[in-house]
Amino acid sequence: MVLRVDRRLHVFPDLGAASAALADQLTRRAIEAVDERGRFRWVISGGRTPLPLFELLGGPRALEMPWPDTDIFFADERCVPPDHPESNFGAAWAQFLSKVPIPRRRVHRMPGEARPIGEGARRYARKVGPLPNLATGAPPLFDVVLLGIGPDGHTASLFPGQAATGQRRRTVVAVPEAGQPPHVPRLTLTAPALSSGRNVWFLVAGADKRAALARIFRADPAGDAAVPASLVQPPGPTEWFLDAAAARGLPTNRDPR
Ligand code: 6PG
Repeated sequence: MVLRVDRRLHVFPDLGAASAALADQLTRRAIEAVDERGRFRWVISGGRTPLPLFELLGGPRALEMPWPDTDIFFADERCVPPDHPESNFGAAWAQFLSKVPIPRRRVHRMPGEARPIGEGARRYARKVGPLPNLATGAPPLFDVVLLGIGPDGHTASLFPGQAATGQRRRTVVAVPEAGQPPHVPRLTLTAPALSSGRNVWFLVAGADKRAALARIFRADPAGDAAVPASLVQPPGPTEWFLDAAAARGLPTNRDPR
């Protein structure tokens, strides 16, 4: 029974400042993970919000991360070829993955081009591995999970009212129809897979996300499938990197950065 959800808010004047702070914290966690466990497993979000962060990682911050020991996974993917303008992999590859010394074998691309799309989900699930039982002390799947949210409260490709959103056993599922642009099928990590992170961070910017944030923060502590981002509930706190426009009006225990 989830009685209380632990959220840490970091509010910044704009997305650039939020992205720089997130890059700092990401680099610290990555170095810690490699020191302690020999590798850093990072799930990256799609969408446009993380692009300034990706640009930092592929530019001025390129050589701070322990790329040779970093495994990149994707929270979700559009079922299009990797060179398609709507590909989340394609965007990350252009922004930073093609510019840093990460071994190609450590960039775990979701096979959005696979058909049937369920086969793509099954292939990626084998790569991610089975859901660990965190209650037994088993380590989570990932070190950092970085997510965004849509104006409807979706995250990754977990959309309100979709069967994938309620999936509790599998780690990766196919979403035949997203119900919103881009109108292509998706592959997505499930809520339990996205929750299996030592650190779970949301990067959210813009006034158009304010209402979704308020709904997520008001949702039942057990999570509400009507606001899928509320279903992401890691063992530790979630951290929210917000710009002022998105954070306005939120009940906050703000980190006065
Ligand atoms: C995707 C993302 C999706 C995204 C939100 C926010 O494939 O589009 O995984 O969940 O994070 O839709 O998108 P923006 O950052 O573009 O607002």
